[in-house]
Amino acid sequence: MKPSVLVANKGSGSWDPELWAERIRPLLTGRTVLTTNSKGIYEGPEPPLRDVHYALVWKPKQETLDRLPALRAIFSLGAGVDHIFALPRLPAVPIARIVDRDLTMRMTEYVVWQVLDQLRRGPAYRRLQRERRWDELEQPAAGHVTVGLMGLGVMGADAAEVLLRLGFSVRGWSRTKKLVPGVETFAGSAELDAFLSGTDILVSLLPLTPETRNFVDINLLKKLRRSGPLGGPVLINAGRGGSQVEADVAKVLNDGTLVGAGLDVFQAEPLPADSPLWSFDNLTITPHVAGVSDAQALVRQIAEQIESYERGEPLRNCVERERGY
Ligand code: NDP
Ligand code: OXD
Repeated sequence: MKPSVLVANKGSGSWDPELWAERIRPLLTGRTVLTTNSKGIYEGPEPPLRDVHYALVWKPKQETLDRLPALRAIFSLGAGVDHIFALPRLPAVPIARIVDRDLTMRMTEYVVWQVLDQLRRGPAYRRLQRERRWDELEQPAAGHVTVGLMGLGVMGADAAEVLLRLGFSVRGWSRTKKLVPGVETFAGSAELDAFLSGTDILVSLLPLTPETRNFVDINLLKKLRRSGPLGGPVLINAGRGGSQVEADVAKVLNDGTLVGAGLDVFQAEPLPADSPLWSFDNLTITPHVAGVSDAQALVRQIAEQIESYERGEPLRNCVERERGY
């Protein structure tokens, strides 16, 4: 009998474990696909867990992974793996994440949408529309605006390419130095201030790690260029909400340090109804959907990985424990 698979998600709606199991079962003929409940807990009989070699997870529960003695690999159902590294004990097996063209393109769409909305004065025009006013606002050219991407990985590099094509000046900051054609690149803490000081629109596509937690705070935001053509800097975050200090973001939106923002991710999700962030009309809030993607393509990728791994081929898109991403 072929080794089994467990879908171990803490989540309902689009993260419902049974939904993911239904998608992948037809692609894994001959394998049993078990599921947890929406709290991430396996409630079925114990013996089948001994045959589970592969766990597909979103926010897995420690106690569930602890019950898998034959586990050989963990697959994140997303690009991010912070939900896995958040566990205190991880089995010593490879952890693969999703790298998928459709997912990447959707993230690029989100970044480009937010950047263009700011460039073309979207928040201000929507305000004027509500007031029934026909006023023409000053319109800077894309070439006069510098977009600074924090994170120049799969997502950042793709967004950079499209932003360059639209005429923006693009710079990027990463942990290690990157070479991306047309992009001015910066790396590490030594080059962070230089990166920020020339950035008009800051886009965070950083993974959540101990180094990036609470990273986007008031001190960082005050280092952004204030003399740019948008009248002040803008923050866009589609990486992880844990990277931003939301009280600081609210403060700088209030005092004009930031002229606008687009946030897809939050410290607590769903964003609590009493968060002050809801009230800013120069802030676009989306409910962690920047990289909403074709779930069928994601399970196809995982099913292919399982089959090729069993043939002795290496797993692709594995993350590094020491880095945390
Ligand atoms: P990658 O791993 O390909 O890229 C991560 C980038 O961040 C790399 O350039 C890396 O640097 C940089 N980085 C990491 N840590 C640091 C640090 N301490 N200082 C500076 N740079 C750092 O990830 P992806 O591009 O595929 O995805 C990025 C994140 O986007 C995911 O981790 C996830 O959290 C988020 N995401 C959000 C979605 C949404 O719907 N909102 C959907 C999908 C992903 P280096 O190049 O040197 O390694
Ligand atoms: C992901 C996400 O990590 O959707 O893929 O946030």
